[in-house]
Amino acid sequence: MTDFHRIKRLPPYVFEQVNRSKAAARAQGADIIDLGMGNPDLPTPKHVIDKLVETIGKPRTDRYSASKGIPGLRRAQAAYYKRRFGVTLNPETQVVATLGSKEGFANMAQAITAPGDVVLVPNPSYPIHAFGFLMAGGVIRSVPAEPTPAFFPALERAVQHSIPKPIAVVVCYPSNPTAYVASLDFYKDLIAFAKKHELIVLSDLAYSEVYFDDNNPPPSVLEVDGAMDVTVEFTSMSKTFSMAGWRMGFAVGNERLITALTRVKSYLDYGAYTPIQVAATTALNGPDDCIREMRDIYRKRRDALVESFGRAGWQIPVPTASMFAWVPIPEKFQHLGSLEFSKLLVEHASVAVAPGIGFGEYGDDHVRIAIVENEQRIRQAARNVRKFFDAAENNLHNVVPLNKAG
Ligand SMILES: Cc1ncc(COP(=O)(O)O)c(C=O)c1O
Repeated sequence: MTDFHRIKRLPPYVFEQVNRSKAAARAQGADIIDLGMGNPDLPTPKHVIDKLVETIGKPRTDRYSASKGIPGLRRAQAAYYKRRFGVTLNPETQVVATLGSKEGFANMAQAITAPGDVVLVPNPSYPIHAFGFLMAGGVIRSVPAEPTPAFFPALERAVQHSIPKPIAVVVCYPSNPTAYVASLDFYKDLIAFAKKHELIVLSDLAYSEVYFDDNNPPPSVLEVDGAMDVTVEFTSMSKTFSMAGWRMGFAVGNERLITALTRVKSYLDYGAYTPIQVAATTALNGPDDCIREMRDIYRKRRDALVESFGRAGWQIPVPTASMFAWVPIPEKFQHLGSLEFSKLLVEHASVAVAPGIGFGEYGDDHVRIAIVENEQRIRQAARNVRKFFDAAENNLHNVVPLNKAG
């Protein structure tokens, strides 16, 4: 049997290779401190779980639900956008609930992409930003991930030299994996650019509430006047309410784009389990002290990471948002590339990180460190890393796996 067309477009996950190293080390008894996957370790707020439990077990809620989301949930998402961003959304036409933002993003790609369509995607980026379009038969052209003025000349070049002309541009701030944050001014320039070149803007705002400067919350691109003409934005319950396993997210914005996504979804799913949608409505409608607590915990972990790894001799660029630090590989190890370096960290420091290459070719001189273990474990990771660096100082080949060193 020849390779399937679609499967050929999905190379094996790079992260699988680090996972294999992790499993092997664990089998040898190593206590791996896992800062690899961006999987929130905090509990879902109790009042949200209580609502789920209260709603379960009623025959009405066991039936197929609403693919586009129950009306109360869509209203709650519109109210969140009003409160948080000052953006007015019609819950009937400009909001659709998704089975996590990842599903929404992938099916938006299905909805708008014709075979061979070109899409501008940041590199490095969260994998679905590229693979959603590749799966849909599109073609990717990489653009820089950093939201600086230099972004626009690069975008302009990409538009001029793509055949056919690109249909869309993807942005993601606060960014996974780089933790870059965009300003409203950047978004103003982006929307002007998109309108000039007739591009759709797809904005992934999964980390809207995971930020560390209380005076400077990340904006929504929809705050820009006229953005609604060309934009769809994705948000997620996964990080805001530590509900990653619940699979609940949203797409909001331009009516024509939302209608297209809603149509695709109406053929594919019946919506999330109703009690999940009801509990998600409760979460969105507040109270929001649980969000502040989540932020405080990540902020303290971020500080512990920067401080303890810095002392261990590995300078961490300070992230101002997201659950990640995007960290250059120390010079001594740079020639190895991010995958080999990540495997060494597992084997010799019992610390798992995500190799930058997993997010695109321009990520290979970095690793992504996720703050998904507690402060104590983060500090332990730093001590392990220090021992590994010290041993490597003598000879890279002399380093002994921690679990064997005792
Ligand atoms: C940038 C970004 N978008 C989307 C997602 C997926 O979120 P969800 O759980 O809503 O599918 C993640 C998860 O890590 C992410 O980092």
